[in-house]
Amino acid sequence: MLNADRTDPAVLRELIATELLAARERTGLLTGAVEDAELVAQHSPLMSPLVWDLAHIGNQEELWLLRNVGGRDPMHPEIDPLYDAFEHPRAERPSLPLLPPDQARAYAYEVRGRVLDLLAASPLEGAPLLDAGFAFGMIAQHEQQHDETMLITHQLRKGPAVLDAPPPPAAEDTLAPEVLVPAGPFTMGTDTEPWALDNERPAHLVDLPAFWLDTAPVTNAAYQAFIADGGYRDPRWWTPAGWEHRMAADLTAPLFWTQRDGQWLRRRFGHVEPVPPNEPVLHVSWYEADAYARWAGRRLPTEAEWEKAARHDPVTGRSRRFPWGDDPPGPEHANLGQRHLRPAPAGAYPQGASPYGARQLIGDVWEWTASDFTAYPGFRAWPYREYSEVFFGPEYKVLRGGSFAVAPVACRGTFRNWDYPIRRQIFSGFRTARDAEGRGEA
Ligand SMILES: [Fe+2]
Repeated sequence: MLNADRTDPAVLRELIATELLAARERTGLLTGAVEDAELVAQHSPLMSPLVWDLAHIGNQEELWLLRNVGGRDPMHPEIDPLYDAFEHPRAERPSLPLLPPDQARAYAYEVRGRVLDLLAASPLEGAPLLDAGFAFGMIAQHEQQHDETMLITHQLRKGPAVLDAPPPPAAEDTLAPEVLVPAGPFTMGTDTEPWALDNERPAHLVDLPAFWLDTAPVTNAAYQAFIADGGYRDPRWWTPAGWEHRMAADLTAPLFWTQRDGQWLRRRFGHVEPVPPNEPVLHVSWYEADAYARWAGRRLPTEAEWEKAARHDPVTGRSRRFPWGDDPPGPEHANLGQRHLRPAPAGAYPQGASPYGARQLIGDVWEWTASDFTAYPGFRAWPYREYSEVFFGPEYKVLRGGSFAVAPVACRGTFRNWDYPIRRQIFSGFRTARDAEGRGEA
């Protein structure tokens, strides 16, 4: 769908409607899977009550599409401050006079009906928010990003399982452990991806020395070796801030792991199960990922290294939309969209490999990089400063590639996510890198 002829307004309208519908179906699944009492409960101080996400989705859709694009008056101006993410941090949200579940649903439903009318009448050109349907695409991505957030809330919630999905595909186990990315320039970021967000722009050349990158994300088995070797007890492997946090938070294993009779178990969406050895490690903080890499005699890749490994085509010299090419992600390429409620084993998805042979760069687990979240040269805040610009700086580390919880519409080789280095309730893992000798052309 994403490769449809977007210059044809009818095709573009249908694509937008399809993406909006897909997002709403997922929102319906995530908010319909629990009783209303659980929608208004706060399952973790890190997260909003699900009912906040639901009305916030509708409120942002109303704000950007009905008001900013459509020029309509606010439907319920009195509720706007409740759903402004900058006005109320997550911990505060349960104490707000939020719309109850039935009213939140009705509001989001009413907004959506008006949006579909607006879409049918929109020229989808002639204004920056309208060109290529940008604001509609932004809102589809926004809803899917909150669906991922709501899936994190489901993971944090205690109680029996309410979500279900088939297992992901199996993996080959004969892969080389790492791939070589030779030295040279590549194009990072984009000028052409129609729904790319401001922080992915503009395209710019970055010249990198040669490096080796793990073929697949670091597995639970490898991570268990770090634990067994005393990795959590040895400050040599940790940055000073990382060690301080490890001590203060008493970290001893990834989030949701427990040890029973010498075996590691994990809680996953209400199921307690043995930790699968060949699956990418999940729910680790940047500090843990960084410590593991140092213990392994390696390092986290920079954001630029990650993107070069994921997008650069050494034959044509151009950067692809995805590791496998420009085609939108299909089930054969990557584990995306909550199709499976877990990462696929390391080495899965041969059809999703990058030209250098790296696997699973898209989907499965968000990958921590060594890089702080900063602006690309020539960055311009769009359509509002609070989208990215206010987050630039050394406080946040960049994650790349998306997880099994990320929808295709909110995922591409240029997409950048960011979070605090202590965070691990997110679907975060990592892979490691090392410098290559010389130019790396051998
Ligand atoms: Fe939001």
